[in-house]
Amino acid sequence: MTTAAEKAPAVSKEQADAIFSRGLEGIIAGETAVCSIEQGGLWYRGYEIHDLAKHATFEEVAHVLLVGHKPSASELAAFKAELIAERPLPGVVTAFIESMGGFLASGRAVPMDILRSCVSMLGHMDPDSQSVEKDANLRKAKRLLAKIPTMIGHMQNVIDGKAIIERERGGDPTLGHAANLLYLMTGSKPAKEYAHVVDVSLILYAEHDFNASTFTSRVIAGTLSDMHGAICGGIAALKGPLHGGANEMAMEMLKEIMKDVGEKAIGTKAVDDWMQKAFDTKRKLMGFGHRVYKNGDHRAPILHKLGRDVAQSDTKNPGGHAAVKWFELGEQVQKIMLEKKNIHPNVDFPCGMTYFTMGIPVPQYTPIFVASRVSGWAAHIIEQHANNRIIRPLSRYIGEAPRKW
Ligand SMILES: CC(C)(COP(=O)(O)OP(=O)(O)OC[C@H]1O[C@@H](n2cnc3c(N)ncnc32)[C@H](O)[C@@H]1OP(=O)(O)O)[C@@H](O)C(=O)NCCC(=O)NCCS
Repeated sequence: MTTAAEKAPAVSKEQADAIFSRGLEGIIAGETAVCSIEQGGLWYRGYEIHDLAKHATFEEVAHVLLVGHKPSASELAAFKAELIAERPLPGVVTAFIESMGGFLASGRAVPMDILRSCVSMLGHMDPDSQSVEKDANLRKAKRLLAKIPTMIGHMQNVIDGKAIIERERGGDPTLGHAANLLYLMTGSKPAKEYAHVVDVSLILYAEHDFNASTFTSRVIAGTLSDMHGAICGGIAALKGPLHGGANEMAMEMLKEIMKDVGEKAIGTKAVDDWMQKAFDTKRKLMGFGHRVYKNGDHRAPILHKLGRDVAQSDTKNPGGHAAVKWFELGEQVQKIMLEKKNIHPNVDFPCGMTYFTMGIPVPQYTPIFVASRVSGWAAHIIEQHANNRIIRPLSRYIGEAPRKW
């Protein structure tokens, strides 16, 4: 027989009340060996982000996250071959994307939602769909990692009113993950420097410990639900403008400032005035601030420099302005935010300017984030399933006192 003492919860109501934190700020909600983030740095399984951005490729980083170690040359070759083989989409998924053309054109459907539905559909067809075993999870993760760029590419072809590019192969087997993504979207092989910049952006976006979308995926996995469901949850969480959706919103904000003040006003007080109005109306400026990093996001300067270098070497851009103007405007906005609010840009701010400079359509910025972060989500889902305890916090009740019906 259990005694009253044995039945008491591990954490008393008083203890729980004392550690309450709105938005779980500052709360350690689990353990992970995938990633660590601190004010002073960001590490994927012990590898520091600058080191990875400089020396690794996205496929190597995905291997580190999913399999758990830096691949040998033969492991990397095998991993890449598996990804290439898994690129094509089942016909019904491509047909679904094609059927959504009208909704995408009207704006009722957005690429992030179509992507979420495609991942869900893939779950119905995956040979390992219901298993939460480690090997099955790894196979599913690789399939999703390989297929998400194909979804993005096919979706963009439909939006552009073009025939689907590489329907049978899901790309060009001679191209790496980032280059193939750009190729599938446009039909042309990207310049080496564009492919490199996108590759680095994928590395920077791959993983970020218990951020909102990863936490969502872990909560879903924590009920022993399946990987595709947990990834769908991750995509839904990432879409929001306070999370991954900020890369699209950051660029939209810069376009709005450019439209309001005019290109000639960059560097002048007109931009300060625009910002002051935003502060006065308590507007959230997208691509700024972070729950954890209060002294700056380590990823932002890496991508800013790469994006600016591309912009500087490019005299024309799709917006009709010299590409570097967007960085000049962005830098002025950053300076004002820092001086007036002491708030730093996060990685989504340079991402917006960088992808825009390369002519990537804005509604695909967050889907490209998914093409990368799926590696981090899957690593966390595998970790959660391998050592599971259901994630079930408490709430602080602020409603009516008990009363009679
Ligand atoms: C990321 C974010 C959600 C973090 O939220 P948080 O940890 O709850 O931060 P807080 O809202 O507590 O911010 C603290 C203060 O800074 C302000 N602040 C934070 N980010 C801001 C932003 N982007 N623009 C304007 N003010 C901002 C808040 O209004 C708050 O001010 P207050 O104390 O006067 O109310 C938030 O910074 C934000 O909304 N940023 C814009 C969206 C974005 O870029 N998201 C991508 C994150 S990687």
